[in-house]
Amino acid sequence: MIQFKGLVKKFGDRIVLKGLNLSVQKGEILFILGTSGTGKSVLLKNLMGLMKPDAGQIWIEGEEVSSFSEEQYLPIRRKCGLVFQQPALFDSLTVFENIAFGIRRHTKDSEQEIQKKVTKALGLVHLKNIENKFPSQLSYGMQKRVSLARTIALEPKVLLFDEPTTGLDPVTTSAINQLILELSRNLKTTSIVVSHDMRCALDIADRIIVMDQGSIIEIGTPEELKKSQVSLVKDFLSEVLEKEARQ
Ligand SMILES: Nc1ncnc2c1ncn2[C@@H]1O[C@H](COP(=O)(O)OP(=O)(O)O)[C@@H](O)[C@H]1O
Ligand SMILES: [Mg+2]
Repeated sequence: MIQFKGLVKKFGDRIVLKGLNLSVQKGEILFILGTSGTGKSVLLKNLMGLMKPDAGQIWIEGEEVSSFSEEQYLPIRRKCGLVFQQPALFDSLTVFENIAFGIRRHTKDSEQEIQKKVTKALGLVHLKNIENKFPSQLSYGMQKRVSLARTIALEPKVLLFDEPTTGLDPVTTSAINQLILELSRNLKTTSIVVSHDMRCALDIADRIIVMDQGSIIEIGTPEELKKSQVSLVKDFLSEVLEKEARQ
């Protein structure tokens, strides 16, 4: 579905991505873990065409997109839905209008079709009867769900999450993680989740990648990762296992 080949990204003298190679399979949930500042968000931004790589290729469903113009990128951005860390809803628009906004921009759907899509998207994130509320009337956890609904309403084939649970309380975190799993399976999307939540990665990922300083240092299924001999991976794991042992 997605392939990065020898991807290099520099800022000045600083090489952030050092020739990264990665294939993402159709339908899989892939977690990308790593310490902060290691290039995870930069990788997603390159995929979305929000940044251009200095070398290497990005293939999405058989198309090499890294040299695409802004205009050529529009259908790619529709294919790949990015869920931001912050809900980033329009405060002055209702929940309905927030979700309808993207549909109106990307399609020529009738009002009736838009209505249907909004209701369906809200249903998928387990929300109903809140179409006429404003974001400020919702809890933070609900705002995150609405933001997810806004992304899935466009029916993307790929869902990208950049730290979807950072800064959330444990209950909301587990609800959002559950949703990521449910949505990926129900909508049959390919999902890439940038996270530092090893527990969640072990629970719901098909494969996990660990990045350090712009390179992939480990890749495997949760079971394979648990047996990793890479010290940073072992550190990540022991943090989770020790915390669970204390509880
Ligand atoms: N637009 C930019 N200009 C300059 N440096 C950047 C830019 N975006 C990211 N960086 C640098 O690239 C590195 C990786 O950033 P990022 O991908 O955001 O890390 P993370 O793995 O925490 O998501 C960091 O050192 C960051 O400072
Ligand atoms: Mg980041």
